Amino acid sequence: MSVKKPEILYTKLFINNEFVEAASGKTFAVINPTTEEVISNVSEAGPEDVDQAVAAARSAFGNTAPWRTMDASQRGALMHKLCDLLERDMDYLVALDTLDNGKPLCETRGDVTYTIGTLRYYAGWCDKIQGNTIPCDGEFMCMTRKEPVGVVGQIIPWNYPLMMLAWKWGPALAAGCTIVLKPAELTPLSALYAAALAKEAGFPPGVVNVVPGYGTIAGQAVSHHKDIDKVAFTGSTAVGRHVMAAAAGSNLKRITMELGGKSPIVVCEDYDNLDEAAEVCHTAMFGNHGQNCCAGSRTFVQESIYSEFVKRAVKLAKERVVGDPFEEKTQQGPLVSKVQMERVLGYIKKGKSEGAKLECGGARQGSQGYFVQPTVFSNVTDDMTIAKEEIFGPVQVILKFKTLEEVIERSNNTTYGLASGILTTNINKALTYSQAIRAGACWVNCYDVALPQTPFGGYKQSGQGRELGEDGLAEYLETKTVVIKVPSKMS
Ligand code: TAP
Repeated sequence: MSVKKPEILYTKLFINNEFVEAASGKTFAVINPTTEEVISNVSEAGPEDVDQAVAAARSAFGNTAPWRTMDASQRGALMHKLCDLLERDMDYLVALDTLDNGKPLCETRGDVTYTIGTLRYYAGWCDKIQGNTIPCDGEFMCMTRKEPVGVVGQIIPWNYPLMMLAWKWGPALAAGCTIVLKPAELTPLSALYAAALAKEAGFPPGVVNVVPGYGTIAGQAVSHHKDIDKVAFTGSTAVGRHVMAAAAGSNLKRITMELGGKSPIVVCEDYDNLDEAAEVCHTAMFGNHGQNCCAGSRTFVQESIYSEFVKRAVKLAKERVVGDPFEEKTQQGPLVSKVQMERVLGYIKKGKSEGAKLECGGARQGSQGYFVQPTVFSNVTDDMTIAKEEIFGPVQVILKFKTLEEVIERSNNTTYGLASGILTTNINKALTYSQAIRAGACWVNCYDVALPQTPFGGYKQSGQGRELGEDGLAEYLETKTVVIKVPSKMS
C-alpha cells in the first residue's frame, strides 16, 4: 500500500474554534526529520495568545455556557463524533505524524488507532461520573458531587503527538473541563488537525484550544497562568520541575506529570522461550525508536542465559529495517530532531568510553535525516551513565544478574519509577517482583501494555498522578461535599 505525503492544511493557532495568527505575527519552522527540510511554518503562540486561549476556555466553562449546561450523554456523543471523524481521516493523520515525527507507518497506524480507542473509552465515561451518599453523624445527610476541575492547560511531547493529545483530551472532556493544549514545537501538526475535527464534530467554541509554540514561551505562559486550574504535563523531568515550581509560584494549580524513566525488564533463566524473550525485550526497547517514556531501557538477563540472549538481541537489532518512514517495510525512521540525534550519539560515546561492549550499531546512519543505527551494549554495569540516564533513542543496554533478590534491588536503584517488566514462568517470582518493584506499572511476560482502561504513571521522579483508566479521569475532577440538615421531627 502506498501512502501519499499529506498536504498541510492548518498552521495557525486554534482559539475559540477559529484558526488565527499569533498576536506577534511570528511563526516557527517545522522540520521533516527524514529530509531536514521545512514542512511548513506554524504560528508561534506567545503569552498574549495563551491569554486569549485561556479566556476562551474560561468562557466556555462558564455556568451558563453550552459546554456546562450540556447533558453529559451529549458530551459523550460529541466525543464519539470526534472519533468518527478521526476514523474517517485516519490515513491522512497517519501520514501527517509520519511526516512530522519521522515514525514509520506501522507505528503511526498504531498511534491513531490507540488515539481513537482512548477517546472512545472516555466518551463512555461522560454520563457515568457520580459521587456518593455518605452516612454521617447527627441530623445530616451528605452527598458528594464530582465536578470538573475547570480550565486545564496540557503540555505534551513529540514522541506520540496524537496519542498524548488523546491521553489528555479524553479524561478532560469526559469530566467537563475546557482545554488549552500546547503541543511540542517539533510536532504540532496533528494537534491542529484534531482541533479542526473537534470543531467539525460540533464542540462549542472555547472547549478545545491549541497553542503551538516554544516550551520556554508558550509552555511557561501555560504553567504560570493564574486562570488555569490544572496543568497536565508529559516530558522531561527537568521541565517537570519547572512546571511544578510554576504551579506553586502562581495559583497553586493542580498538576499531573508524566516524566519518563529508566525502566527495567528482567529475563529469568526459567523463561522457556529465549527467542521470544529476546523479541519482547527488543520491542520494549526499540519500539518508537526508543523514544518512549516507558521503554524497557535496562535489560537485565540472568547469568546462565546471558550470552545466548545477547546473540539474539544483536541479531534482532541488526535485522531492524531503518529507513524512509513512508516505506511499508521500515521499522525505524529518523529520530525526531538533530538535537535528539546528537543527544543519543553522545550517550553511545559515553557507553563506549565508560567500558561497555558495543555489540552493534553505535553511529549515525547516512548523512541526511536524523537516523541512528539500532545499537546494543553488553557488559553494562549499574554505575555507567547509559544504565542510569534516559537515553530516549534506539540503544539497548544489557546487564547481567544472578538472583531475584539482587535484581529487585538493582531495578529499584534509580530515581525513576515509571514501568518494569519480568519474563518468568514461575508465578512466585512474578508476584514477588511485581510487589517489590517501585514503579507505576509491572508487565509480566509482556511489555508496554498500556491500554485506555489501565492506569499509567510514575512513582518517584517519574511523575505525579495517573493517566488513563478511571484513575486518569479522577485527576480532572474535584469532589464537592454537600451536607444537608435533615430535621429529626417534622412539624
Ligand atoms: P521537554 O523539553 O520536557 O518537552 C516536553 C514539552 O514541554 C514540550 O511541549 C515542550 O515544548 C514543553 N516545555 C519545554 N520547556 C518548558 C517550560 N519551561 N515550561 C513549560 N513547558 C515546557 O522534552 P524534550 O526537550 O522534547 O526532550 C528532552 C528529553 O526529555 C528527552 O531526551 C527525553 O529524555 C525526555 N522526554 C520524555 C518524554 C516522556 S513521554 N516522558 C517525552 C519527550 C521527552 P517545546 O516542544 O517547545 O520544547
